[in-house]
Amino acid sequence: MKLIHDVAAMQQTMLQLKREGRRIAFVPTMGFLHEGHASLLREGRKRGDILALSIFVNPAQFGPHEDLERYPRNLDGDCALAEGCGADFVFAPTATGMYPPGFQTTVALGPLTKPLCGASRPGHFNGVAVVVAKLFGIVQPDVALFGRKDYQQLAIIRQMVHDLNLPVEIVGMPIVREPDGLARSSRNSYLTAEQRRQALCLYRAIKQVRELFAQGEQRVDWLLAAARSQIEAVAAATIEYLELRDGVTLQPVDRATNETLLALAVKIGATRLIDNTVLGEAL
Ligand code: PAF
Repeated sequence: MKLIHDVAAMQQTMLQLKREGRRIAFVPTMGFLHEGHASLLREGRKRGDILALSIFVNPAQFGPHEDLERYPRNLDGDCALAEGCGADFVFAPTATGMYPPGFQTTVALGPLTKPLCGASRPGHFNGVAVVVAKLFGIVQPDVALFGRKDYQQLAIIRQMVHDLNLPVEIVGMPIVREPDGLARSSRNSYLTAEQRRQALCLYRAIKQVRELFAQGEQRVDWLLAAARSQIEAVAAATIEYLELRDGVTLQPVDRATNETLLALAVKIGATRLIDNTVLGEAL
């Protein structure tokens, strides 16, 4: 496995492999890899001759009061995990390599960015879209894999790829959970043991809504009230959003259906966690 920091060197290496007819599978990450990333890498290994991942904590997608500085980093550990999953290339650029002086281009996004995380993290998805577009230009993947935990991000990237005719297949992979249901996230490392227990209220809320829906309940306010009571039972938990929306357009729905997305962002202490489920799909 090769570790490349330089943007031009990565682009040249990938270009050469493409000229040789190799199919490139790509997993963009911000590092501090866990089992969720490993599932993307293993699937990527099956889908390409070459498996590349990027590790870049992208400053453009963090707001001024967010956790850019303290975002967990562990390049050596990440390389070991990536190699164990069969990666051929790790691309770990610097911030100035990605955003040299004079950088000025933005990507204007549409209505998919307005609700949910877009409402609470203004500019976040523009930062994601710019870096993903750049990474696609550098790595030139045939297929790129993203986790469905960042459901809105995945929807926005699919839309961007479609609208801009980018020649890359986007694959969304299921959320990977701990045995007790907590969705895997690099930010789980911020939680104390007590907060780790409290964080299970997100999964309890999801299960509660799914159970009620399976019993025939479709009323949005009832389903949301049931979910809210699971979260509010934990004093340390603060709901940022808790919503039922159309799983494709992310617009509000009148009644829940199999295609409805339950999405939530909850702060446990200072740690912001997100989770989601589509009601008609397996958990
Ligand atoms: O999901 C992430 O880890 C990031 O948002 C991504 C897609 C790597 C862009 O920085």
